[in-house]
Amino acid sequence: MRPSIPCWAVVPAAGVGKRMQADRPKQYLPLAGKTVIEHTLSRLLQSGVFQAVAVAISEEDPYWPELAVSRQPGVITAPGGKERADSVLSALKALQGRAAEDDWVLVHDAARPCLTAADIRHLIDVLSQDAVGGILALSSHDTLKQVEGDSITATIDRKCVWRALTPQMFRYGMLRDALLKAEGNQAVTDEASALEMQGLQPKIVEGRPDNIKITRPEDLALAQFYMEQQQ
Ligand code: CTP
Ligand code: MG
Repeated sequence: MRPSIPCWAVVPAAGVGKRMQADRPKQYLPLAGKTVIEHTLSRLLQSGVFQAVAVAISEEDPYWPELAVSRQPGVITAPGGKERADSVLSALKALQGRAAEDDWVLVHDAARPCLTAADIRHLIDVLSQDAVGGILALSSHDTLKQVEGDSITATIDRKCVWRALTPQMFRYGMLRDALLKAEGNQAVTDEASALEMQGLQPKIVEGRPDNIKITRPEDLALAQFYMEQQQ
């Protein structure tokens, strides 16, 4: 069922996957019978929540046009940018004229293929009446240390630190304006940080630990394990 306020998905998928050290960007690596990005997009599309999904793709990407999902109705392709934030802004611009200013946008990394419908719905349920929006995040189970060089200088209160995941859910107009104002700022590594720079305080919504980001080679086996567990 679609939420009362329209929701749009934005998927940054224009990275090169340097830390993965593979022969192609990590979103095109095989995982449980499909590519990583096909899992991610099918989970977003099958949730039934979104009006459309805007995907940011590098202009030098030969893999995307080979995938049937690139031509699926409800999938909009936008040019990727230099940094992740540029790719997200480009995808938002591709939704211009379709998304209304106060519609919700959920930005989700192409490299997180284990996202569940439960997490999507939970995020929307918690935030749908919120003025700003927020993000899925994980608390830390480990004790956290502040470090200079290789020496510990303090122990950080675990309750004060969360790991930011995606989806990150914000109003279309507010997110676009925050990203426009932050353009070129390297400190904007997620959507929430762009809104924080505007003095806003996005909410934290606890997500599931299986929503991992494929980053290093060993993460593919872990993602496969989680997918088997999810069935
Ligand atoms: N991304 C993007 N445009 C960029 C950089 C990243 O759309 N200029 C996307 C990636 O494709 C990925 C998501 O942002 O889905 C999260 O980024 P990350 O995990 O850092 O992916 P890469 O940048 O591809 O990997 P690496 O940092 O190891 O090179
Ligand atoms: Mg990166």
